[in-house]
Amino acid sequence: MAFSVTTRSHSYESYDAEDSVFELSDFADSSDQTCMRQDLVDQKSRRHKRFVRRHSYSPYEVKVKTLAHHHQWKAPEFFRGAKLPPGRMVAHQSSLPHLPVPDLVQTLQKYLKVVRPLVDDIGFQKTKQLVEEFGKPGGLGESLQSKLQSRAQERQNWLDDWWLHTAYLDYREPVVINASPGIVCPPQDFNGKKEQLQFAAKLVAGVLDYKVQIDDQSVPIDKLRTRPLCMDQYYKLFSACRLPGEQRDQVVVYGPDCGVRPRHIVVVHNNQFFSLDVYDNNWKPLSQDHIHAQLKRVVCQSKHPSVPVGILTTENRDTWGRVYNQALKKDKTNKLSLEAINRSIFMLCLDQETVREKDRWTSMGHQLMHGGGSQHNSGNRWFDKTLQFTVGTDGAVGIVYEHSPAEGPPIIALLDHMLDYCSQSPAVKETSVHPKEPQRLHFSLNNSVLEAIDNAKKSLDMQVRDLDLHLVTFKTYGKDFPKSQRLSPDSYIQIAMQLAYYKVNKVACATYESGSTRMFHLGRTDTIRSASVESLKFCQAMQDSSIQPSEKVALLRRAVEGHKKYAQETVSGQGIDRHLLGLKLIAVEAGLDVPDLFEDSTYGQAVHFKLSTSQVPSKYDSLLCFGPVVPDGYGICYNPAEDHINFCISAFNSHRETDTVKLATALNQSLLDMQELLQTQAKL
Ligand code: COA
Repeated sequence: MAFSVTTRSHSYESYDAEDSVFELSDFADSSDQTCMRQDLVDQKSRRHKRFVRRHSYSPYEVKVKTLAHHHQWKAPEFFRGAKLPPGRMVAHQSSLPHLPVPDLVQTLQKYLKVVRPLVDDIGFQKTKQLVEEFGKPGGLGESLQSKLQSRAQERQNWLDDWWLHTAYLDYREPVVINASPGIVCPPQDFNGKKEQLQFAAKLVAGVLDYKVQIDDQSVPIDKLRTRPLCMDQYYKLFSACRLPGEQRDQVVVYGPDCGVRPRHIVVVHNNQFFSLDVYDNNWKPLSQDHIHAQLKRVVCQSKHPSVPVGILTTENRDTWGRVYNQALKKDKTNKLSLEAINRSIFMLCLDQETVREKDRWTSMGHQLMHGGGSQHNSGNRWFDKTLQFTVGTDGAVGIVYEHSPAEGPPIIALLDHMLDYCSQSPAVKETSVHPKEPQRLHFSLNNSVLEAIDNAKKSLDMQVRDLDLHLVTFKTYGKDFPKSQRLSPDSYIQIAMQLAYYKVNKVACATYESGSTRMFHLGRTDTIRSASVESLKFCQAMQDSSIQPSEKVALLRRAVEGHKKYAQETVSGQGIDRHLLGLKLIAVEAGLDVPDLFEDSTYGQAVHFKLSTSQVPSKYDSLLCFGPVVPDGYGICYNPAEDHINFCISAFNSHRETDTVKLATALNQSLLDMQELLQTQAKL
């Protein structure tokens, strides 16, 4: 079947539009399909109810009800071994301002403003009363605010451990698709095992070259315009791993103060793991030629697929935590192998061919997000590892990363460096000098572990079948056009997404955009809320032919400028979402009931993010892919270049009303309509 977006529009183009559309029908006969779809919907809706019950905040957030049962809750130890020795980075970090606690009245007023387009009049009036009650002088809001301010005075960052914990480590759904992004690199021009290994050797050398800057603390400091940003995340990427627990996970980083510094990477091929030293005796990284020779040895020793023990890392976290702690780790051989994986600098996955989906780029998106299923590359992974670089025999290259230590930008900085290195380095040469033999990591798998692997395969395959993914490039223009109109490109794209969603659904929905708070010490993100009264007015006007184009232009500009203002406030630490989260968590910590404001159905709607979006720019045509955060929603990541924009859109097949191709088509049309509107008006 033809790739429908390409046939409907000349502006969108996939890299290789052919083959069939990814549907449930590809995997089951029609009689099974209804059952399977129903099963997936039920499972997802059960999962979602559990999730909302537990988190009642945002897709990524807070296990409030559970925490309320544990008034003595304390933040666990994070990032063991991640302390940096004194140096340039430590000096930079300590010069950064602390994350502020926004003003209470300001947050409550903004909250009413952002929920207005999402709820009806009756719901809004009820919410207004709850807000007034919460915020009244001497009321609960003021008392929680003062507790939060005290917390902020005692810590470097009042939010960071709460956030890490509630957004990531307490999250019990599988990290694959739900939490761990995959980053697709531009497809490489090679095919076959020989070239795969040559490219992989360059890639490893390029990553080690980048690590030199981490080790001597000389990574260039990121800036937002002129303001320097927190660089902490860069130092938690290498030699790091998530460890599964039965109720909560941990992250460990084998940093400079961890004792014996890791000197190996782990290479996985045909589901078999090998430890490979990548430094010589003087701590000089091995050359790409030596790495290449070592990779050839790994491949020679793993010619056939073995039991995919790595697939266990795709499981629900409680299940995996049980298997890890109660079965796998108890065996001495396994313990050594697990330690080698956890401590390794990073993982290199030498993959088989990518499973073909509707087009090559989308196929690569699937490959990076989950590995294609249990019969393909999903067992050739360790999804708990913070950094996994994948190189397929067919030129599919990318990074899979475990999200808890960092957002996309530091990973993209590494990826850009790595791709620069690969394109500039000379051809790999054969060498007869062999460093130390790669060490196979053995696993002893008893019946209970084998059974767990079988179960993991089945549940992963269901998740894989359920992912609806679409990677496309909008080619008509990029950042250049909104800039020429004196509009912020990011805000403009966000409003285009609002219009696209409105075209398809005829309503606005709660929309999450990641806004970086790295201007502050240990800052991560807050939510830029892109759905607003102004964006809704613009979307409604665009569907109404009686409204004059000049008025539509005014509404468009107001919506874009309103978004930009909200975004600027968010990155300056004046967002509302993390503040409200803090007020809720501080109540829980104080042993109080969750305030009524957070039990209100409006609040439920406000944090049910049917559009979960993020801009992750790269100088290459790379694209970060992540899944939706609610069963009936979309995940959209975009990489805007000057003259085109790459989009990855995800949804779940089990939800009948979502459809990535349909949304992509509407987005394409929205971007074209907005350009036409602005250009036509400019000519008048
Ligand atoms: N007229 C002309 N040009 C404008 C403009 C205007 N009105 N407004 C902005 N621009 C320019 C900017 O100067 C900038 O120029 P550059 O390309 O030369 O740098 C460019 O347009 C882009 O600016 P803008 O589109 O407004 O976005 P931004 O780069 O400021 O990014 C966020 C906005 C919110 C995405 C960013 O602040 C952020 O938080 N990013 C991190 C998100 C994140 O962590 N994602 C990962 C999650 S895993």
